[in-house]
Amino acid sequence: MQPETSRTDIRNQARQAFGLLRRAAHPDRKHLAWAILWLVVAAGLEVLGPLLGKKLIDEHLLPHRADWPRMAMLLAGVLVFSWSASWLRYLQLVRLSGLAMRSVQRLREWVFGHVLRLPMAFFDHAITGQLVSRVTNDTEAVKRLYIQALFVILDSGIVVLGTTAAMAWLDWRLMLIVLALVPAVLFIVWLYQRLSAPAVTRARALRSDINGQMAESIGGMSVLQANNAAQRFGQRFADTNAAHYKARVAELRANALLLRPALDLLNVILLAVVIYSFGQRAMSSVEVGVLYAFISYITRVVEPLIQITMQFSSLQQAIVAASRVNALLAEPEATEHSAGRAAGAPQRVARQDAPAVRVRGLNFAYVPGQPVLHDLSLEIAQGAFVGVVGHTGSGKSTLLSLLLRYYTPASGSIEICGEPLAAISNERFRAEVGLVPQDPFLLAASARENIDMGRGLPQERIEEAARAAHAHDFIAALEQGYDTPLGESGSRLSTGQKQLVAIARALAGSPRILLLDEATSHIDSQTEQVVQEALDELRGRVTVIAIAHRLSTIRSADRIIVLNHGRIAESGAHEELMRIDGGLYQRLYQLQQLAA
Ligand SMILES: Nc1ncnc2c1ncn2[C@@H]1O[C@H](COP(=O)(O)OP(=O)(O)OP(=O)(O)O)[C@@H](O)[C@H]1O
Ligand SMILES: [Mg+2]
Repeated sequence: MQPETSRTDIRNQARQAFGLLRRAAHPDRKHLAWAILWLVVAAGLEVLGPLLGKKLIDEHLLPHRADWPRMAMLLAGVLVFSWSASWLRYLQLVRLSGLAMRSVQRLREWVFGHVLRLPMAFFDHAITGQLVSRVTNDTEAVKRLYIQALFVILDSGIVVLGTTAAMAWLDWRLMLIVLALVPAVLFIVWLYQRLSAPAVTRARALRSDINGQMAESIGGMSVLQANNAAQRFGQRFADTNAAHYKARVAELRANALLLRPALDLLNVILLAVVIYSFGQRAMSSVEVGVLYAFISYITRVVEPLIQITMQFSSLQQAIVAASRVNALLAEPEATEHSAGRAAGAPQRVARQDAPAVRVRGLNFAYVPGQPVLHDLSLEIAQGAFVGVVGHTGSGKSTLLSLLLRYYTPASGSIEICGEPLAAISNERFRAEVGLVPQDPFLLAASARENIDMGRGLPQERIEEAARAAHAHDFIAALEQGYDTPLGESGSRLSTGQKQLVAIARALAGSPRILLLDEATSHIDSQTEQVVQEALDELRGRVTVIAIAHRLSTIRSADRIIVLNHGRIAESGAHEELMRIDGGLYQRLYQLQQLAA
């Protein structure tokens, strides 16, 4: 949950949120201009109605002058004017709704596009459900702002201005009395802001917590039930839900107290004052028409003001929502993306003689002050097969993450085929470096789509990759072969099969460098041997860097790097490492032999 926001914060947020809304609506600004123009026309027509009514009273009803055709004309005028005003308004509402929908569509595309380009470090502390909430709920709240608030505020504001002008023309002293309403309304709105803004902010933050908890619980349902945690999670959810309820009630209380009732009261007071001040004057017949027109106008001023203030609740919600979206958009993108785009991505051919990977003096920490890698240096020749081993938490996955540019090291340099990491365009980098991650991630899509990953590869290439990863046989055995949907995160497959699909996916991109993080941890010894052969086949063509707990996978590697607490403890081929008496690798290997 967010901490209590101060008032200047809220004002800043509001300013930025409006900036965002303006940018989202910018391509539709012509529509906005037309809408305003037509609303002005509608307001004009609306203001003319009571003037015709006044004419009818003053010239025909009071003097008892029955000029039927003229009276009919005046009456028809009143009807036609108010009818056309409504019609014009309806058309503008439709127009502004379209604008709102398109703006929100734009906003969503921005937000999601931005999320796709965020650095991995962002996702270390992001909560999925909350992110989803920002992309869906919050942008939706922004839409409500556009449709309701924008339309109502524009429309009502214009009507108030037009009506005030007409009243000034009729009797400026009475107009001044009515105008006294404005500061009163401003005061009410100010008070409302003060009372409801913190509650609205809290309610939105809690709502995304609710989404977050929901998504988390569903994602980990098996773990949750296995640990008998369902009840505790239910309780935690109930607590958040109750807090959300309380925040909403506080907000609704402010609405109920301040918006409609307070303004209705003002309306009544105003009518009383206007009628009273008429009573003080000597009533001439002429002034009855003015009185009629004034009373009509007062409702026409008060009603829009009520409407405007009623919108302040959606406005408040939308501003909070927009500022949450804005905060997400303000997260800096991963540098490689911007560098790659700016550089125009020259297609340089990698130098044949340079090592595939050269790391020098690499230091890295996820959390400042808790270093994970210490002064790491290594060189891997092109086409080599290198294994990385070490205890849990020794920094193996971290090393891969740095090679993949997910994080920027604090100091030290990484070169791929002689080029510094930062100088390689993103597109080329992702084409040259393939990854099989520690937990294979599959999309809720077909086997083919999972291997292709939107690259538009031909079927032969996909099958070839699947064969190389020894995934072809079980995929072909599925009821629809390569087109079989694999279910959410590949739930149709066993974990080992998922790993094989992930390997096929990496191979399908024909990478120059292939990184494998525990790619054989979930498959049986027989399949492991098959994968091992597949990796051996790549030798000389593809540089393979494989992390493995199972040492048999990397036994035949050209070189094995042993990491210990973020430092390279030993490095060499299997036989060399086995010769180091009391060495880390020797111990690891013997332990595994014992266990087997
Ligand atoms: N995203 C992260 N944020 C903060 N600390 C992290 C993060 N990822 C890993 N660490 C820490 O960095 C250290 C190295 O983690 P890493 O994942 O590289 O280990 P590993 O060698 O791959 O272990 P394993 O064999 O269990 O996969 C660990 O102490 C871990 O707690
Ligand atoms: Mg790991």
